[in-house]
Amino acid sequence: MKFTKVCIIGLGYIGLPTASTFATHGLQVVGVDINTEVISTLRNGGVHISEPGLRLLVQEALESGHLTLNNTPENADAFIIAVPTPFSEDEEGCYDGQSYRLADMRAVTAATESIVPHLRSGNLVVLESTSPPRTTIDLVRPILESSGLKAGSDFHLAYSPERVLPGKIIQELTENARVIGGIDEASAIAGRELYTHFVKGEIVLTDATTAEMVKLMENTYRDVNIAIANEFSRLAVRFGVDIWEAIRIANRHPRVKILNPGPGVGGHCISVDPWFLVEGAPDLTELISTARHVNDGQPHFVLHLIKDVVGDDLSGKRIAALGLAFKPDVDDLRESPAIQVAKLLAEAGAIVCAYEPYKLDAYIPGVHSVHTLEDAIGDADLLVLLVGHRELKELDPQKMLKLTPARLAVDTVAGWEVQPWIKAGFKLIRLGVGK
Ligand SMILES: NC(=O)c1ccc[n+]([C@@H]2O[C@H](COP(=O)([O-])OP(=O)(O)OC[C@H]3O[C@@H](n4cnc5c(N)ncnc54)[C@H](O)[C@@H]3O)[C@@H](O)[C@H]2O)c1
Repeated sequence: MKFTKVCIIGLGYIGLPTASTFATHGLQVVGVDINTEVISTLRNGGVHISEPGLRLLVQEALESGHLTLNNTPENADAFIIAVPTPFSEDEEGCYDGQSYRLADMRAVTAATESIVPHLRSGNLVVLESTSPPRTTIDLVRPILESSGLKAGSDFHLAYSPERVLPGKIIQELTENARVIGGIDEASAIAGRELYTHFVKGEIVLTDATTAEMVKLMENTYRDVNIAIANEFSRLAVRFGVDIWEAIRIANRHPRVKILNPGPGVGGHCISVDPWFLVEGAPDLTELISTARHVNDGQPHFVLHLIKDVVGDDLSGKRIAALGLAFKPDVDDLRESPAIQVAKLLAEAGAIVCAYEPYKLDAYIPGVHSVHTLEDAIGDADLLVLLVGHRELKELDPQKMLKLTPARLAVDTVAGWEVQPWIKAGFKLIRLGVGK
């Protein structure tokens, strides 16, 4: 199958690098986003996402003349859907007394509907958005078939999950192994022919529902493993153990690889995707659901840790929250546990000044976002490190002494070396250290 033109719907962290990479590999690409600001920013040479190398890549794609931008799809050989699949803010499910989150599939539905008027015989449609099992065959397929064309006989339909790491998206997009699940074999093969334009990693073919489940299994596996690390961090405090030392030693076992605890699990993937499995089969997902609740409870554990240090009454305490992103060195705040901690502290009466170097104007109700480290710590009683951004990890405690009156610091990510901070005169408390 020959592809000359591809239409990519949704120009976010996934869609924009994908569209630009196809364009720099010679395909004619129409990048589509319903957000008019996204389109005008890109048309004016800007990029609305912070991702290393992305600005240059988009520039190259636009200058090549192969990438055009629009608010609506147009006819093409292939369509790729890369729109958000968050969980619903309004509704949740409940099974056996345990609540669970529900996927909000409105963007996938709308994006699929927007393809219908442009769908032609011989086209390929690929869903890339992380989705609950059976979405491709139960949700996307019937919408596309409302065109009068039949999936499998008239057009190809496949699911191909994205597994890139924010911060390394451009490299991983081409180098990672890619799974392509077709609704039939011909659809999977068509998918492989499309992605072969730029994917250097192995391309594994399977069926659409297996590919959907593979993506969810990958993130659920990580979530469950982080949950056990977080639970270990709580146990370490109870038993007077340093969890970081304990994990280091346990991981010397050749078949053990415990992940790091922290203030919780965030981001648009790991903290969301396991719910898609729970939603589909709440009666079969006790462990997955419990792991989600453990990780969602970790910001509360951090709140108690802070209360243990400064006392139960936080009212009027000035706390500098350092970092708000869901992980180090990215600007992505989605589902960030650092934000949950900042909010919990503010709700408990503390005056919270948050400094997020990658997003200076983050809006969090009740929390003061400040533009400089100095503004965050200038009159703080307590410093709380919530994200291991390099800039924050490298803070020199000797210099910090002059910038802040605080002599208490809580490190939730093991980002600060204990001895230099203590030597400088700080009392440093690390999450998961009961010694
Ligand atoms: N960000 C990641 O690292 C990552 C990794 C793997 C998988 N994913 C998955 O990829 C999908 C996309 O995630 P993202 O991070 O790129 O999202 P994003 O929020 O960064 O971008 C999505 C874009 O889609 C646009 N959009 C929404 N509805 C639309 C519609 N009907 N038509 C056209 N455009 C529309 C939005 O305006 C937005 O610009 C999600 O399912 C996500 O779970 C993301």
